[in-house]
This record gives sequence, C-alpha cells and structure tokens, in this order.
Amino acid sequence: MGPVSEASSEEGSPSFGGLRVVAFESRMAAEAARMIERHGGRAIVAPAMREVPLEQNHAALEFADRLLKGEIDIAIFLTGIGVRALLQAIETRHSRAAITAALARIVTVVRGPKPARALRDLGIEPGIAAPEPNTWRELLAALTAATSIKGKRIAVQEYGVSNRELIAALEARGARVMIVPVYRWTLPADPGPLRAALREIAAGGADVAIFTSSNQVTNVMQTAEAEGIGDDVRRGLGAMAVASIGPVCSAELRAQGIAVDVEPEHPKLGHLVRAAAERAGAIVAAKRGGASAIVVASVPAAQRKLGENVRRSPLWDHPMMRACRREPVPYTPIWLMRQAGRYMPEYRRVRDRHGFLEMCRRPELAAEVTVTTVERLGVDAAIIFADILLPLIPMEVGLHFEKGDGPVIDRRIRSAGDLERTPPVDVAALGFVADAIKLVVAAIGAKTPLIGFAGAPFTLASYLVEGGSSRQYQATKTLMYKQPETWHRLMEMLARVTAAYLNMQIEAGANIVQLFDSWVGSLGPDDYRRFVLPHTASVISQILPGVPVIHFGTITGNLLELMREAGGDVIGLDWRVNLAEAWARLGYGVAVQGNLDPIALFADVPEIRARAGAILDQAGGRPGHIFNLGHGILPETPVDHVIALVDSVHEMSRR
Ligand code: CP3
Repeated sequence: MGPVSEASSEEGSPSFGGLRVVAFESRMAAEAARMIERHGGRAIVAPAMREVPLEQNHAALEFADRLLKGEIDIAIFLTGIGVRALLQAIETRHSRAAITAALARIVTVVRGPKPARALRDLGIEPGIAAPEPNTWRELLAALTAATSIKGKRIAVQEYGVSNRELIAALEARGARVMIVPVYRWTLPADPGPLRAALREIAAGGADVAIFTSSNQVTNVMQTAEAEGIGDDVRRGLGAMAVASIGPVCSAELRAQGIAVDVEPEHPKLGHLVRAAAERAGAIVAAKRGGASAIVVASVPAAQRKLGENVRRSPLWDHPMMRACRREPVPYTPIWLMRQAGRYMPEYRRVRDRHGFLEMCRRPELAAEVTVTTVERLGVDAAIIFADILLPLIPMEVGLHFEKGDGPVIDRRIRSAGDLERTPPVDVAALGFVADAIKLVVAAIGAKTPLIGFAGAPFTLASYLVEGGSSRQYQATKTLMYKQPETWHRLMEMLARVTAAYLNMQIEAGANIVQLFDSWVGSLGPDDYRRFVLPHTASVISQILPGVPVIHFGTITGNLLELMREAGGDVIGLDWRVNLAEAWARLGYGVAVQGNLDPIALFADVPEIRARAGAILDQAGGRPGHIFNLGHGILPETPVDHVIALVDSVHEMSRR
C-alpha cells in the first residue's frame, strides 16, 4: 500500500471521529495533543526521545581528559556521525587544536571510509584503516598486524550500539578498553507513557499512529523490543493507520517492517495531523475488514499468522523453527540447498543403482538419502529428497531426466489448447513424497525439523513452456506477453496444485515449506507484479497456518520488496546482494535465509570461514537469520568443505 497524500483543500476540518491517536512527538508533545483533539481524535501522547545536550556527553569529556593527559594509546573510530558528535561534545570544553594535536600523537584506527572522512575533515590522517568489508574482524586484523595491543589503553568510539565482539576480542588480546559511547538522542527521561502507549498498540487499543522523525521510529521499536512486545507492536500498527512526517521517517518505518499509509504534502506537524484525520477512518475500516477502498485489489491477503492454530510440537523451540519466527537463538541455524546430491558419496552409492526419478518415487530410498545427509553434515534441517518437477508427472507432459542434460518435457505447454489437454491434477498421485516424509519424521523427526518444498508457479511454468531448462525464457515470456489469459490460467492451475502439494507434505509431517522460484529473477518488476505476484501470493496464502514458508529465488535484487509482498515468513537471498542491505530493504519484520556463493565452497577452508563470518556479521546477530548458500550445492563440491562450513557457522555464531 503506497502512501496517500493529503488533498490540499482548506474547506472544513477533517475529523478523526473519536479514533485513538498515538503521537510520539517530544518537543511539541502538547501541541500535537491539541491538534489531534481539535480534529476530533482522542490523543495518546507518548514522547519517544530526548535530545542529549552536548555538554552532558560524559563519556566524550572523560575521553578528552584522558587523551590530553596522555592516558590513551590507541583510539578506534567506528562511525562518521559518531566522530563528528564526539568532537562537537569535546569542543564544549576544549579547543579543537588541543584535541587534534593529541590525536596526532596516538594510533588512530578507522573502521571504514565514513569515520576516515570525518577525521580528515578535522585535519587528522587516520593511522590504520580496516580494509573492506570494514567489519570489526578486518579492523582487528589490521590493528594487530600493525602493532602489539597487549597492555595498551584503547578507546573505542561507538554510536548508539555497542560492538561487544570487538571489545571482547581486544580484551582477549590483553588490551585495556575504554568505551566512549556518543549519543545525540536518547530515550525519554520518563519512559512510562511510551511503554503504556506501546502496550495499548500491542493490545489493539489504538487506531492511528503519528511519527514525526526517524529517530522516533528507532526508539519506539527499540523500546518495544526491550519490553518483549516487538512483534505485537508491529502487528498492532499493521491494523492501524500509520502516518509519517516524510520520506526519511517512512523509510525507517518500512525498514522496521511497518507499512506507511499517510504522508502529508508538506513535512509539518499540522499538515501531518490534518492528513491523518482526513484518511484515518477509511484506512482503519479497510484494514479491519470494512470498506476496501485502499486495499490493493487482486492480491490475496497473504496475512497468515505464524504460530496460530499450531500444536506445540517438540521441535517448536528448535533454533531452525525459532529463526523462522524471528526469535532469539543460541546459534545461527544452517542447512544447504541441494544438500543431498551428487557431491556426496552416500548419494552416488544409491544413485549408481537407481534412476533419479526412481529414487524420488521410492520412499525408502528418498528417506535414506535425506537422513544420511543430515547425519553426515550436522545441519539444522532436513529437506525431503524430491524435485520441484515431480508435480509435472500427473500432468502427463512426458517428464524425464536425460543424462547430463537435466530435465526434459516432451509435450510443452504453449497454447490454450495445450493447457486444456493437461488432465486435472490430483496430488494424491504424489503420495510417494508424503510416504517418504513420514519415514524421515519417524527416523529423525524428534530432533531435526524437516523442510518440504515445491516449485513456485513461475519456475514450474518456465519448465512446462520451454520444455526444459532455459537461459532467456523466450517462449515463457512470449506466452506471457502474447496470450496473457492463457498465461494466467496456467499459473492459476500451478498455484492450485502447488498449494495442495505443499499442504499434503505438511500433513505428512513437514515442519517448514520452501517455495523455489529459482528463475523468477529473469523478470522485471512490472512483469513480476502483473504476471507472477498474484499467483505466488495465492499459493502462500493457502498454506496451512503455523507452518513457516521460505520464499526463495535467485537474481532477485530487483524484486525483493515484491517477493515480500507476495508473502513468506523467510525470504531467500542469493550472493548477488549484500545480506545486511537486502534485510534493511525488506524490513526486519521478515526473516532472511542465505547467502554464501556456492562456489565459495571450492576455496580453502580459512577463506570459507572468513566469508561465512562476513555473512554472520551482516546479519548482525539479529533474530531471524538462517544460514544457507545463495543457491544449490554444485556436484563437484568437496564434502569436507561443506562440513567445515556447517561447523564454522555454528561456532562463530554461538551467542
Ligand atoms: O537435498 C535437497 O536439496 C533436496 C533435493 C532437491 C533436488 N532438486 C534433487 C535433485 C531439490 C530441493 C531440488 C529442487 C530443484 N529441482 C530446483 C530448484 C532449486 C534450484 O536449483 O533452483 C530445480 C530448478 C530443479 C529441477 C532440476 N532437477 C534440474 C534442473 C535438475 C538437473 C540439474 C542437476 O542439478 O542435476 C534436476 C535433477 C536433480 N534434482 C538432481 C538432484 C539430486 C540430480 C539428479 C541426478 O542425480 O542425476
């Protein structure tokens, strides 16, 4: 849902009509309350911030005193904004010349280009710069390569969040660490009203939320998380009208997983309250099932509430299940796409004696390969041994696997007539997959979650239309562009079959399902929205409630927000995107899975470890990361490297 801008009419005064309106404004709290009431709203005022006067930055002043007395050997600067704020605070008491002279006498270390630039602006050339990707690991390596830190007095500037790993690593090497936290904004002196308002929102007791700065959003969600009601507040806000002062504030809201409904024409409090009053009634009615004025038409509501109606299985608290629900975990769970395959001797031994489709059709073989893989690798989830193309068998299109060529479909679907000739599919014909799932659950179901899977409609359609694998998807896109009706009917059929097939797997015992839209990255966003999104959303909205859905695709850097809109509790990322950036774009209201390049497994183990560490750093310990490759394991991959990856992720991510 896009922001709605205010109509600029002046006649009459729009009214909230008695709705309960929360305002997080601090400095103008009283004014906000008056405006809300003047527009017929019931104001709940919950100041979310307090500006810290520069001269009250005690840590900054303490740092300056010690620096000038020669009691600091090394200063580490982590952020550009932090460096500037630190210097401004110090300048309330000391001259800039004295500080720059003192900094020039010690070792200065910067994490990345931003703090480096901030120091240079002050006339100080940083001594040591951490190389890309500028995490604390590179910083530590560069520092310890340049000098011994044992017994050294190290000041660490930080802004907002503390880097516990860096501090622990410095101390482990014998350094004496002084933390210099710098803040511009902090939580209000009396957080009572904010906490009370958040509890109201979580309980569904408020109708409209008014945000007037991005810092406010950060503080609101930080407080909600600290109270343990982050998700409830997100859900509450999802059913309210959310008004934002402007684009920066809106971006922060979206990053937090909160949709924005109203932005005013001018970024002023008065305009914002007025715009909210004008739109709130309709928005709230639509969100709560009344008038449907602003709900995007044709997209089935993919609003499945995770955890509802679900029996608490013994696996409920398994790290893999918790990560799907974005709950804290003792270590980051890992599994690997195509974890059972030709790279494994255990697989080849079975495969030498049986055809691939035969292995899929014989539950005891499929179950054996699934289970031996989990035991050999030590991963945190099993994935049932099967293939996304199995539902093509009851479509009677002549699916077979040619040696070396991959899948081949003899009777392609390229017209309305072709589609009519395919018989209606009963997923009971794929009962062998359900039987294999039952065998796996009986063997390891008490300790390891099992992932069921299916191809998403677009990726399945691409095989049906092309007749096999493809590079350009020329026939698929031609059908889409020239015969859109046939395309949509084909996609509707595939969505119906896929949803039924996944639910059959869930009923047989799958704890999680993954939807593979492996080739959807070949589309531009407009085509995705028009030709794919409604069908993928339809599949996901039909999945039995309480079972997490992983929504995966490759080369989807241009589609991530749309994939999220289509649905899924976890979004799969490939290595072509930076995990931290992709997650920020998606917002933290969804979990992510990924995203090591499968080819990284061909590097030496220390390099694999470093790359895995970089991905863990990008996830930042935030709940809701499942480690995986960005795509399936390749057949020549060394098994011992795969095991080293699994062990490294477990070890490096242990909390
Ligand atoms: O361990 C697991 O991950 C579960 C098994 C699994 C297979 N296929 C087994 C398989 C899964 C999850 C799949 C999904 C799949 N299948 C996808 C989506 C994933 C992706 O890669 O994006 C796709 C596009 C297919 C279709 C498919 N199946 C192709 C293109 C091929 C041939 C290429 C290849 O990798 O061999 C297959 C065959 C296939 N599926 C094999 C395996 C183990 C190899 C069969 C053999 O031993 O010859």
